[in-house]
Amino acid sequence: MLSELLLTEISRLNAQAKLPLHRQLYEALRRAILDGKLEPQERLPSSRDLVQDLQMSRNTVVAALNQLTVEGYLVSRVGSGTFVSTKVPQRALQSIRLASHPAQQLSVRGRALSTRFCASELEIQPFTPGIADFSAFPVALWQRLQNKHWRMTYPEMLDYSSSGGYAPLRRAVADYLRVFRSVPLDVDQIIITSGTQESLELCSQLLANQGDTVWLEDPAYWGAGKAFMATGLNLHPVRVDDQGIAPQPHDQTTPPRLIYVTPSHQYPTGAVMSLARRHQILSLANQHQAWVLEDDYDSEFRFSGPPISSLAGLDTQGRVLYLGSFSKVLYPGLKLAYMVVPKGLADAFKRAHYDLNRPGQMPVQAALAEFIDMGHFAAALRRARQSYAQRRQSLLAALQPCLGPRAQITGAEQGLHLCLRLSDDVDDRALAQRIGKLGLTVRPLSAYCLQRQDMRGLIIGYGYAPLAEIKRFGAVLAQTLQQVLNALPPG
Ligand SMILES: Cc1ncc(COP(=O)(O)O)c(C=O)c1O
Repeated sequence: MLSELLLTEISRLNAQAKLPLHRQLYEALRRAILDGKLEPQERLPSSRDLVQDLQMSRNTVVAALNQLTVEGYLVSRVGSGTFVSTKVPQRALQSIRLASHPAQQLSVRGRALSTRFCASELEIQPFTPGIADFSAFPVALWQRLQNKHWRMTYPEMLDYSSSGGYAPLRRAVADYLRVFRSVPLDVDQIIITSGTQESLELCSQLLANQGDTVWLEDPAYWGAGKAFMATGLNLHPVRVDDQGIAPQPHDQTTPPRLIYVTPSHQYPTGAVMSLARRHQILSLANQHQAWVLEDDYDSEFRFSGPPISSLAGLDTQGRVLYLGSFSKVLYPGLKLAYMVVPKGLADAFKRAHYDLNRPGQMPVQAALAEFIDMGHFAAALRRARQSYAQRRQSLLAALQPCLGPRAQITGAEQGLHLCLRLSDDVDDRALAQRIGKLGLTVRPLSAYCLQRQDMRGLIIGYGYAPLAEIKRFGAVLAQTLQQVLNALPPG
């Protein structure tokens, strides 16, 4: 019924902006025409009927109809009534429709990809999780290396790269991974990509078919979820416990083609995957002939506890693809990451990567290779580890007075964030918003949950803010937290 449609639209408009009533009716009718809810040549109810149905004055209705007639949306035929014009050209109609309803341009997948945890939401302030301190990056040195490689660059360095990346960089990454992550590998297995997102998309595109299932951790890294959505996979959340992803018998009824995990430091809970769980995941992967995607995004920063070998290092069946990134140790805008793919897949991955992504940036890769070979990467890592360890310590000390049965820290042994688990009666989203009003960014744990409803907490980053700010704002954070915890009914 037209009047219901118009009244709904009017109340929506009213919520957005206070317009005069005749303007609201004009806008509601215009949108109904542009959205195709009123077809060309369709007859409108008489103004008297509209007055009655909409409970508006005659002046209001007539003013709206006149305006639409003047603008050519409506035509009035004496004696027979008012009709939607046939002259709103279809193409104009479509472009106006798209402009006024951008979401209508999007596919179902597009809508899913553009909602929840969009990058634009990720404001960088003290405690923003997932962000390193890129102000520490040695810019002058980097500029010198870049200049040098630009001066030396010969034409083929300006071309796309079909070999999986600049060979000396792949060698440097291979050396690093063999020593520090116990990944047994051959240089040919390394592929340089422009970020973990690209690595994940490639794995998904090449190893799974549209509609295949990916098991991913619940709660999960939103970026991975989006990469799998973008490539048409069926996302099957698997609950995480304090030993990492914990597949249950009922999960087996949705067999995976891919299993995405962050074993060194589960994102976001920080759980370290136990050895028993690692073997379980590898054996499940074998059983289902699935591929494991090991995202080792922040393994460079381990502060306490024994060093843990990678899942790829335990894999004897060649079912693990290992993903790493330079985003955390250097800076995210560098857009350089790498993956180690099983030997038998390496050529296919390079060919597809070349055709899909046209990889390049060889002079930048050359500068990075030299940066690593000259020991600058190791030095940057040493400095960063030291500095993050202090920040972490300072944040832990600030939060200490708030800890108790209703607030516990997990996942502080590694990485650039920790997880403050809170009891079920804390509204973590409201708490994160309240903290946001103080100019600090923490993320509610429940926002990372895909299916489960039972997790409350805050994800707090200590990478971005310098030590002095961690000290200062850590106290503010703790005070707010304490107020919220004190206000809870006794549990
Ligand atoms: C779990 C996880 N993986 C990977 C990355 C890094 O991704 P990229 O290489 O695209 O910067 C992040 C960054 O925050 C992350 O949190």
